[in-house]
Amino acid sequence: MILIKTKLEQDAMRAAGRAAGQVLEEVAGFVQPGRRTRELDDYAAERIRFHGGTSAFLGYRNYPCHICISVNEEVVHGLAGERVLSLGDIVSLDVGVRVDGFIGDTARTVPVGSCDWEKQKLIDVTQQALYDGISCALSGNRVKDISRAVQQRVESNGFSVVREFVGHGVGRTVHEDPQIPNFVGGGASPELRPGMALAIEPMVNAGSAAVKCLRDGWTVVTRDERASAHFEHTVLVTEGEPEILTCLEKTPSKLKALS
Ligand code: MF3
Ligand code: CO
Ligand code: CO
Repeated sequence: MILIKTKLEQDAMRAAGRAAGQVLEEVAGFVQPGRRTRELDDYAAERIRFHGGTSAFLGYRNYPCHICISVNEEVVHGLAGERVLSLGDIVSLDVGVRVDGFIGDTARTVPVGSCDWEKQKLIDVTQQALYDGISCALSGNRVKDISRAVQQRVESNGFSVVREFVGHGVGRTVHEDPQIPNFVGGGASPELRPGMALAIEPMVNAGSAAVKCLRDGWTVVTRDERASAHFEHTVLVTEGEPEILTCLEKTPSKLKALS
């Protein structure tokens, strides 16, 4: 069942989204060569508290960290630890913040210092795929319109979309209906309505789409050990343009470029 957020709930989602967007921005700015992933998680915990929220991930299905930190071939759900970031790595940061009972969920991949052109292209294409998907989050469209836009951007650039993990509705819990695949499959595809809050989140591999989960029970990696990138925003479907709740800019240039 897809929950429609009331005006009051939409305001709560805006507050949670803003907090999540700010934390992600701050943690991304804290990434540099020599940092341990544990330090990023500690810093995230502090910034989440500063913005008046709590981590929506810590304890979710027993997840042990405040944010998800996934490096290079790690796709999603990486665990913070003693790993030291090096120049040229790429690191995916996924932040879920709960404020007054509602959740903002947002992710981005950043280079550690700088990275080679292929990883940079992977990052750019994944971010553009997210904005392509967002631009389709319109009342009257269907979920698969988002999926198709994302998949087209990714595959026309020679990369592949991960199948095992998908975007989702978000609200009082991290994962609500509907599922939002980053590829077009068969089956029913719900129609989008004003008041739906959606986490759109392409996970994109430089090589093959195949992934596996490590023995820690959480970290998802590419089977071919090539790099992966992840971008995510929480978006509100409205009567008009989609409203990006986890974005600090009002209309991001990547979205403007499409209209
Ligand atoms: N951030 C993930 C998502 O975007 C969910 C993480 S759940 C956790 O859907 F338990 F791994 F934190
Ligand atoms: Co997320
Ligand atoms: Co999500």
